[in-house]
Amino acid sequence: MSDAERKTPFGVYIHWPFCLSKCPYCDFNSHVRQAAIDQPRYVNAFAAEIAATAERAPGRTVSTIFFGGGTPSLMEASTVGAILEAIGRHWTVAPDVEVTLEANPTSVEAARLRGYRAAGVNRVSLGVQSLDDAILKQLGRLHTAQEALAAVAVARTIFDRYSFDLIYARPGQTVADWRSELARALGEAGEHLSLYQLTIEPDTPFAALHAGGKLVLPNDDLGRDLYDLTLDQCGAAGLPAYEVSNHARPGAECRHNLVYWRYQEYAGIGPGAHGRLVVDGKRRATATEKRPEGWLMRVEASGHGMTVNDALSDDEQADEFLLMGLRLREGIDPKRYAALAGRPLDRERIAALMGHGFVETTAEGRLRVTRSGFPVLDAVVADLAA
Ligand SMILES: C[S@@+](CC[C@H](N)C(=O)[O-])C[C@H]1O[C@@H](n2cnc3c(N)ncnc32)[C@H](O)[C@@H]1O
Ligand code: SF4
Repeated sequence: MSDAERKTPFGVYIHWPFCLSKCPYCDFNSHVRQAAIDQPRYVNAFAAEIAATAERAPGRTVSTIFFGGGTPSLMEASTVGAILEAIGRHWTVAPDVEVTLEANPTSVEAARLRGYRAAGVNRVSLGVQSLDDAILKQLGRLHTAQEALAAVAVARTIFDRYSFDLIYARPGQTVADWRSELARALGEAGEHLSLYQLTIEPDTPFAALHAGGKLVLPNDDLGRDLYDLTLDQCGAAGLPAYEVSNHARPGAECRHNLVYWRYQEYAGIGPGAHGRLVVDGKRRATATEKRPEGWLMRVEASGHGMTVNDALSDDEQADEFLLMGLRLREGIDPKRYAALAGRPLDRERIAALMGHGFVETTAEGRLRVTRSGFPVLDAVVADLAA
């Protein structure tokens, strides 16, 4: 591996697949179990899968680690510490590694934050979701707004870097409602906020309510007004959008998520985790068994839980690169697209999209989606990738 490659970002994603209850809007790989989770047994399995993955992708310097879920804040601090140790045994860990853990903001979980800091976590992302108790109830959350804000306050005293998530464009939400909720959130924010429009995911309780007309989302016009307000208010507060749903003080972006959006290399460890690894010069898509117990049995039997390990064709890589990169405010380098696809982007399509005001090129020759293009991002990507 060359020096340049050694400096290339390399992310490790660790998936903790358990939650205390299932939120009715969520389709993440998260499971509720009545029995206690045997964390030491999971630690051994995570360590085994880390070892197997490092054997396939050796010599990397890990620049970011992300504990996502599910609810990683249900892990013991010692579990987190043991997984970090396993990563350090099999790869070099950069001295300035970013280690993020997603936490739910209940008081019990807030009490664990100090232990995570001691274990090596240096950034937390809290799922606040709303600052209104009635809405939190509707979202099936187990915490109140006050509890969530208390968790943010604890995070602030322990971590230099913290973020929290809110879900907006909810049923019945007006522009005025969101303006005041977001203003309060910005008052509590540090360097980073993730603000997601509520999405109806198939096969969730919210999907059934939606189909039955019992849950009505804002129409497209209101959705756009809410999005515009979000961009304006966050920009004015010094946290401009650097990705469709993510806002940060410049320089305080989540480096781990940038690895995905910049289409760099990452390992996915744990049940249902996805990875993109370059093995023998070829980029491969990996995924593991989704069901926690099934994953555990596979790892215990064969040392890893991988069920997908596909070499990506040039076209697949170029499409993925577009899909991820155009989410970013910085956009993409068309030269990298051409190198991946073996042909440049279609000039006429770009010209047509520019004519609609959906994309623009920067002084450095990058291609990016404009503010009016973001609400129709999927269509823009589909058009360019076609
Ligand atoms: C992996 S999830 C949850 C992390 C953590 N368990 C929690 O609930 O706080 C990451 C974020 O995705 C967002 N999210 C999940 N499902 C969503 C949906 N259907 N629509 C919009 N945002 C969603 C939530 O803001 C959530 O915090
Ligand atoms: S939103 Fe978070 S807490 Fe709720 S089910 Fe999904 S992963 Fe679990």
